[in-house]
Amino acid sequence: MKVKNSEFTISAVKESQYPKDGLPQIVLVGKSNVGKSSFINTLINRKNLARTSSAPGKTRLINFYKIYGATELNKKSEDVEVENSTNNLQDTNFYFVDLPGYGYSKMSQKEQIEVGRFIEDYFKKKNKEITLVIFLVDIRHNPTEDDKLMYDYIIKQNIPCIVIANKADKIAKTKVDDEVQKIQQYLNPLHDLHFLPFSSERKIYTEQAWSEIEKYL
Ligand code: GTP
Ligand code: MG
Repeated sequence: MKVKNSEFTISAVKESQYPKDGLPQIVLVGKSNVGKSSFINTLINRKNLARTSSAPGKTRLINFYKIYGATELNKKSEDVEVENSTNNLQDTNFYFVDLPGYGYSKMSQKEQIEVGRFIEDYFKKKNKEITLVIFLVDIRHNPTEDDKLMYDYIIKQNIPCIVIANKADKIAKTKVDDEVQKIQQYLNPLHDLHFLPFSSERKIYTEQAWSEIEKYL
């Protein structure tokens, strides 16, 4: 993916505010502080388009970021005569949707309920624009009870999902594959989903993440 441009679109609290242009939406889900907003920034190579903070619970609303990307024309279309043969790229525009993080213990119960409601409202609209859920967990720990509940909820939505084990910089390189395996064994014993390591801190595994995401665009 070549990201040509990216922009903040809207912080939405209700469905009527969600974009209506029909572009695909790729949504980030995960507990507070796991690195959802950082993940977006790392992939699009912007320092702080998606707001991040060391204070967890930063993302309280549903933030839409419009990405103007270009992908290489796939093999099939190589057979077709391309008008401009020097330009082998096709426009691929979509949204990254940054959902509020759940499970931040310092949030009041009222706030936690509100976060849950935002997330549910977003998925309930069941629109076909949601093309992929990127579910983030922390590579250092077994998924929390909240993670498990959210993961099960997402699987029930029947939307494609990949799982990112984030903060891979925090463990030894030699342990990364094992930890990803362990997390997958726990969440997805059937091993029918893609689980990938990632690190926004070190900006590693970004190519792998992009190539997985591109499959859904
Ligand atoms: P909420 O908006 O509260 O739900 O959090 P979030 O999931 O968007 O997390 P955010 O991207 O704001 O990152 C939270 C903290 O973790 C920040 O201090 C980031 O710098 C840090 N962080 C994010 N990704 C990584 C990573 O891959 N490695 C390390 N070491 N730190 C990271
Ligand atoms: Mg955030």
